[in-house]
Amino acid sequence: MPTFLISFVGLSLNNIESGCYSVGVNRLIAFSIAILVSAQSFAQAPLPSSPRRGPLMLGAAWYPEQWPESQWESDLALMEAAHINFVRVAEFAWSTMEPKEGDYQLDWLERAVRAAEKHHIAVVLGTPSAAPPAWLTQKYPETLRTKEDGRKDEHGNRQQFDWSNAKYRELAGKVAEKMAEKFGHDKNVVGWQIDNEYANESYGDATQKQFQDWLKKKYGSLDDLNRRWTTAYWSETYQDWSQIPIEERYGNPGLLLNWKEFVSDTWRGYQKIQLDAIRAHAEPRQIITTNMMGWFDAYDHYTVSQDLDFASWDNYVGSGHLDFVRNGATHDLTRGFLRKNFWVMETQPGFVNWHANNNSLDKGEVRAMAWHAIGHGSEAVEYWQWRSALNGQEQYHGVLVGADGTPVPLYDEVKQLGAEFEKAASVLAGTTVKSEVAVLNDYESRWAVNWQRHNRAYDPVNALVSYYGSLRALARSVDVVADTAPLDRYKLVVAPALNVLTPAAVKNLETYVRGGGHLVLGQRSGMKDADNSLYSQRQPGPLTELLGARVEQWYALEKDVPLEGDWGAGQGAMWAELIGVKAPDTKVLMRYGKSNGWLDGQPAAVTRKVGKGSITYIGAWLDDGERKKAAAWMLSESGVSVVMPEVPEDVEVSVREGEGRHVVILENFGDAKTIALPREMTDVLKGGTAKSVTLEKYGVGVFRY
Ligand code: GLA
Ligand code: GLA
Repeated sequence: MPTFLISFVGLSLNNIESGCYSVGVNRLIAFSIAILVSAQSFAQAPLPSSPRRGPLMLGAAWYPEQWPESQWESDLALMEAAHINFVRVAEFAWSTMEPKEGDYQLDWLERAVRAAEKHHIAVVLGTPSAAPPAWLTQKYPETLRTKEDGRKDEHGNRQQFDWSNAKYRELAGKVAEKMAEKFGHDKNVVGWQIDNEYANESYGDATQKQFQDWLKKKYGSLDDLNRRWTTAYWSETYQDWSQIPIEERYGNPGLLLNWKEFVSDTWRGYQKIQLDAIRAHAEPRQIITTNMMGWFDAYDHYTVSQDLDFASWDNYVGSGHLDFVRNGATHDLTRGFLRKNFWVMETQPGFVNWHANNNSLDKGEVRAMAWHAIGHGSEAVEYWQWRSALNGQEQYHGVLVGADGTPVPLYDEVKQLGAEFEKAASVLAGTTVKSEVAVLNDYESRWAVNWQRHNRAYDPVNALVSYYGSLRALARSVDVVADTAPLDRYKLVVAPALNVLTPAAVKNLETYVRGGGHLVLGQRSGMKDADNSLYSQRQPGPLTELLGARVEQWYALEKDVPLEGDWGAGQGAMWAELIGVKAPDTKVLMRYGKSNGWLDGQPAAVTRKVGKGSITYIGAWLDDGERKKAAAWMLSESGVSVVMPEVPEDVEVSVREGEGRHVVILENFGDAKTIALPREMTDVLKGGTAKSVTLEKYGVGVFRY
C-alpha cells in the first residue's frame, strides 16, 4: 500500500526536522519521497471559518429573555471588554419565542442579535426543543416522555419531551424553521446548536411499537431475530413482533444492544428534522452542531454526529480539579466524531451546582483548562453561563457576572484569556491535531461490557483512558476514532476493549494490519458479534487466525496477578485472559506469574508480525509502569515518533499543525518549573523567541515554529 508508506514517512520527517525524535528505524533516507506527501493525508480537518467565526472563539451562554432589554447593553459591553466574541442564545427560550401555539415572537431575538453585533459579538442560535413550553405539554400530553417506571414526566423542569413522538418533532421542527427563516441569512449568526444535551429516552407504548417496527425492518423475519438472539434461551422466543419489550439493563443482550441502536437512530431522526428545517433556510456558512457530553453513552455518538457540520461538547469538571489526561481523551473523542476540530460549547466558570461538593477550580486553572481544549483541537471555549439568573434551578452555578450585572473575580482571568485568544487566533488558523496513533472507541463494545462487567471494577472507559494516557505521554497526540474509521493514516492503532466486533470493523482492522499497520487489541476484544452474541470462535473472534493465538479462558481476579516478560515485571489487576498460542510465529511478550493456578506461567500478551504490520493481544490489565513500557514498545514497533520526551508528567504538551506551521501549547498542572523547548520557537503570547519556558502552576505557553 504505497500511499500508506509514503505518508508515514512524511510525518516522521516533519518530526525529525522539528526537534522531536523518532524511535525505531531511521527514515531520513526517504526524504525525497516525503516532500511529495500532502500534509492532509494525516489531518483531522480544521473547521471552515467565516467572516465572523474565526479560528479561536471565546463565548458565553447568554439568556437575554431573562433580563429587561435595558440591561442588555451593559452585559454586552462587559463581554466585549473581556474579548468575548460570541454568545449562544435561545436554547431554552421556547416559551418566549412561541408564547402561544403558532404565535412566533422573534423580534426580541433579532434585537438581541443586533445588540450583540454592535459589540462585535457573533451569535450561535440554539433551537429550544430541550425546554417545551407549558401550553404545548398541556395541549399535546402525548409529547411528554414516559419514564422507565411507566409514569409520565411533567412540566417544570426540562427535557420532559418524548424524542420519538411525531407531534413533538413537528412542533420542534417548526420553531427551528421559523428561526432559520428569520436568521438563516443574518450575517451576525454564525452557527446553530440543535436542542441541548440529548439525554432522555421514552418508554411508552408508541415508542415500543416504533422499536418493534425498527426491528422488523432490520431483521426481516422473526426466525432470523430469534436465531441471532438465541431466544430459545429461557423460552424468550417471539412469535409476534408485538411481543418484543423494551429492556434497558437486564434483558437478552441482543435485545439490549438493539434498543440502544434504536435509541441512537431515533435521536438521529429527531435531530434530522431540525437540521433539515434549518438547512432549508440557512446559508452553509452557518454551521450546525449539538452539544454532547463527553463519555456519556446513552446513544452512539458516531450515529448521531454524522449529519452535523461539527461536533461540540460540554466540558465540566464537576468536583475536584482537571484530570488533564482523561479530559484530553474526551476532547480527542469529540474531535474524532467527525474527525475535525470541534468546539467546547459549554464549560464551567469556576464551578458548577450539580455535584456533591461544587468546589471552584483554582485561580489560573480555568485559563489552563481553556488552552488545554485548544491544544486538543477545539476552536471555541464558551462559559456557561454569563450571568446568574435571578431564579430557576441553577442559582448557585458559576458565572462571569453576578445577578447584579457586575463581574465576579473570575471575570479578569477570562478577560486575560480573551486577549490571548486574540493574539493567537491567526497563528492557530488552519491548524489541527495530527496523530500517528489512534485509540478505538466503540459504543456497542462499551455497552456490552457494561451490561456484563463480570468484575464490577472493570470500566471500559478507564481501559481506554489508561492506554490513551500512556500513549499520549510519549506521542503527544492521539486520535480517538470509531473502529470503522479510515485507519491507513495511522502507524499504530490500539483497541482497548473492543468487545463487539462487527463485520465492518473486522474488515477494517484486517485490511489495516495486512496493509502494514500495527494493531494492538486489549482485554475482552473480539468476544461478541453485531448481535451481542458470543462468537463461535474464542477471542478475538474473527481475528484469531490473524493473531495465531486465542483466549482460552478469562478470569475476574480477586487479587493482582504478577506479570513478567518483555515489559519487565509488574502486576495485573481486575481481569486476566489466559492466551493459548497456536501459530509458531506468534511470540509471547508477557506471562502471568503465580496466581490462581490456571494462569500460572501462561501467556498474558502475544504478538505476531503480518507482512510489514503486526497484531498484538494484551490479556492483562497492566499496572501504570508496565503500561508505560508497553506503550513505548508499541511506538517503537510501529515507528511512531516520541515528542518532547523530557517534559515532566504534570505538563501537558499539544501540537497543532497546518498552513506550514506548528503550534506547541503547554500547560503546567504541577509546581513551577522550567521546560526546555526542542528548538527555538516564537512565543505567541509574550512575543520574541524562546528556547525554554518557565511555567508557574497552571501556567500556559503557546509557541510556534
Ligand atoms: C440458577 C438457575 C440457573 C442458572 C444459575 C446460574 O441456579 O437455576 O438457571 O441461572 O443460577 O448460576
Ligand atoms: C449543562 C446544560 C446547561 C447548564 C449546565 C450547568 O451543560 O447544557 O444548560 O445546565 O449544564 O452545568
